Amino acid sequence: MHKNIAIIEGDGIGPEVTKQSIRVLNAIAETFNHSFEYTYTLMGADAIDKTGSPLPDETLEVCLKSDGILFGAIGHPKYDNDPTAKVRPEQGLLKLRKSLGLFANIRPVTTYPALHHLSPLKTKNIEDVDFIIYRELTGGIYFGNKLTNEEGTQSSDDCTYTADEISRITHLAFKAAQKRRKKLTLVDKANVLETSRLWRKVVKEIAAEYPDVTLDFLFVDNAAMQIILNPKQFDVVLTENMFGDIISDEASVISGSLGLLPSASVGNGVALFEPIHGSYPQAAGLDIANPIGSILSAAMLLDHFNLTEEANLVREAVTWTLQSGFVTKDIDPVNSYFTSTVGELISDYVSGKIPGSAM
Ligand code: IPM
Ligand code: MN
Repeated sequence: MHKNIAIIEGDGIGPEVTKQSIRVLNAIAETFNHSFEYTYTLMGADAIDKTGSPLPDETLEVCLKSDGILFGAIGHPKYDNDPTAKVRPEQGLLKLRKSLGLFANIRPVTTYPALHHLSPLKTKNIEDVDFIIYRELTGGIYFGNKLTNEEGTQSSDDCTYTADEISRITHLAFKAAQKRRKKLTLVDKANVLETSRLWRKVVKEIAAEYPDVTLDFLFVDNAAMQIILNPKQFDVVLTENMFGDIISDEASVISGSLGLLPSASVGNGVALFEPIHGSYPQAAGLDIANPIGSILSAAMLLDHFNLTEEANLVREAVTWTLQSGFVTKDIDPVNSYFTSTVGELISDYVSGKIPGSAM
C-alpha cells in the first residue's frame, strides 16, 4: 500500500517524538511491504518564526493532498506569558482543525499492568480501565465570537452549538460504542448551560437509532470526580470541545503519564493524528520526552488506513518496552532511557529484531 503522510513536527518536543514515530512507520513499511512518503510542513511557533503565520497556506495544501497527517506538538512559553500577543501558535492548530473539518477528537484511555504503580490512583480501581473519549473539536467556546471592550476591562467568549454539529459526532460515538461494551456517557452541564440542554436533546433523539447502546448522562463536575473515583464505569464518553479538553488531560493520570496518550481527529476528509501532550518546552532537544503518545498516534493512523495487523504490532511493541522497563524519565526517573532509544527499540521489535517478537 502506498500512502502520502503529511508531517507537522511543530514545537518543543514535537520534532523529536515525531521522528521516533516515523522510524516505527518505516519499520512497518519495510516489514509489510508498504511505501509511506512523508511531506514535512510547518505549523505553530515554528511556522510563526519562519513565515509569520501559525498556519501558512502551503501547510493546508500539503495536508489536504495527504492521506493522513501526523502532528507533534504546539506551543511556546513566549506566547503563553504574553496575553496581548495577536498571533499565537495555537491559532494554527485551531484553524487547521476547522479548515479540515476535523469535528471529532478521539482519545483512548487504557492502562498497562507494568505501570499501575505510577498511577496516583489505587491499582484495584484502574486495572483494565479501557474507555474512549469522543471530544467535539470544531465548535463551542473555542470557536465562538471573542470580544474585549475598548477599555480592556471586559471580555467574552461565546459558546454556540448547532444540532448538526452535535449530531455528526454523536453518530460516530454511538457507532464506536456498538463495537465496544455498548455504553455511552454524555458529559455536559445541562443544569446550567443552554448548549448542554441542546446536546442532551439531540443525543437522546439519536439514541433511538442505537437501541443496543445504553445511554447515560453526567454533569461535567461529577464526571471529573467519577473519572478518578471509578474510571472502569466508562466505555465511550461523548462531550463538547472544552469539557473534552479538560477531562482528557485529567484521564491521562489514570495510565500514569500524559506522555502515553494518543489521539485521532477525524471528520469528512483527511484525518490528523497527534499525542495529547503539549510541546513540553523544558524538555525540548534533551532526548528525554516520551515518544509513546506519538507512536500510538501513528498506530491510530495505521488503523485509519485499515492496516489493523500493523497497528496491533506497534501497540504490542509499545507494551513490550513498558513491560521490559525500556522507558523514558516520566515513567522511571531512576532507570530511564532516551527518547531515541525507546523509539529504536519499538521499531526493532516491529522489524522482528528483538528475540521473541512476533515477526
Ligand atoms: C489539545 C490542546 C489544544 C486544545 C490547544 C493546544 C489549542 O490542549 O489538543 O488538547 O485545547 O484543543
Ligand atoms: Mn488539551
